[in-house]
Amino acid sequence: MSCESLWINVGLATFDPRALPGDPYGIIEDAALAVDQGRILWLGPRAELPVKFQPRLVHDGKGAWITPGLVDCHTHLVYAGNRANEFEARLEGISYAEIARAGGGIAATVAATRRASLDELVSSSSARLARLVAEGVTTIEIKSGYGLTSASELQMLRAARALAALYPVHITTTLLAAHALPAEFEGRPEDYVSLVCDEMIPDAARLGLADAVDAFCETIGFSEAQTARVFDAARRFRLPVKLHADQLSDGQGAALAARFGALSADHLEYTSAAGVAALAKAKTVAVLLPGAFYFLREKQLPPIDALRREGVPIAVATDCNPGSSPCTSLLLMLNMACTLFRLTPAEALAGATRSAALALGLGHCKGRLAPGWDADLAIWQVGHPRELCYAFGSNPLIESVYAGQAHGPG
Ligand code: NIG
Ligand code: FE
Repeated sequence: MSCESLWINVGLATFDPRALPGDPYGIIEDAALAVDQGRILWLGPRAELPVKFQPRLVHDGKGAWITPGLVDCHTHLVYAGNRANEFEARLEGISYAEIARAGGGIAATVAATRRASLDELVSSSSARLARLVAEGVTTIEIKSGYGLTSASELQMLRAARALAALYPVHITTTLLAAHALPAEFEGRPEDYVSLVCDEMIPDAARLGLADAVDAFCETIGFSEAQTARVFDAARRFRLPVKLHADQLSDGQGAALAARFGALSADHLEYTSAAGVAALAKAKTVAVLLPGAFYFLREKQLPPIDALRREGVPIAVATDCNPGSSPCTSLLLMLNMACTLFRLTPAEALAGATRSAALALGLGHCKGRLAPGWDADLAIWQVGHPRELCYAFGSNPLIESVYAGQAHGPG
């Protein structure tokens, strides 16, 4: 039977709940994993490897561990400039919201991003993507949201799509035109929301540039009613939705996301018990962003215990962006999810694999090691996968594989 490659002498952390009921890592020790045509053909204990496989390439893992390729399910990777000046200002006591109200914050990045050409956006973002890929990320979501005109939002999405040709990585794009009110619409938020609904969403959908639609539902973003208008428009174009919800205040964002059957609700620091129950009912993934929590020096923790109790899938992502999380390390986020949010290492890792794939609508093909799933693998020099959450500031990646194509750590 044809089989392109076979890994032997490896441990597998499958994150497949069917692999070993009760084991949150889904571990198979002394395993073998066979790949053909970009998919996982077979995996299991090496002793049970069927003799019918005739692999063209055999990799001896020498005791390394394989996890699913990491999935970074919430990033604003494409942007121009940086906001180190605001970081300094915040350390002097000015808040993130005050900076935003004074015309800085997202608006500052919007000004820089509008000035940048497509090539400039691709090259500055490419350097950030290289760092994520070098840590085993094989799937990444990239949002627009720093253009806020039709042309500039579409250019951001084009830059995100163009990055897929440069790296062995699967990229999904999200239109986040409802990220902030652009200055030219000051005092006319409903008119801007109309532009988003009547022009930007239809154009992005028609051009195939967006895989989902997101919004920032917040006092410094858009109201519940305005967000609902955006989501109604997304629904008309059959685009799934996601939401920046309850990050700085309880704006009922989680319940709103659930009402629209959102793929994910993200941040969630101020989400109420009712919001958590709504997410559980809608099977919406809770995406936790410890980088933004840390960098904004937030005190209010997301409702982790309630999310666990209600069985809401929990994902972890970088939120890579210039204002609240200038971070290109998903491994660091795993550590912070444990230290700041008290996730277990297994929960954090499931959050950057299986649950992150669910948050992108890719739960059927990414984020776990299972027969038929895409052969996106990350191969690590560790004694146990929990070490990926324990050590920080280091990178034990040996090699990653994106849909059957092997490459070095970068
Ligand atoms: O996810 N909350 C809104 N959006 C980003 C921050 C954007 C920015 O400050 O540039 C976030 O934290
Ligand atoms: Fe974000």
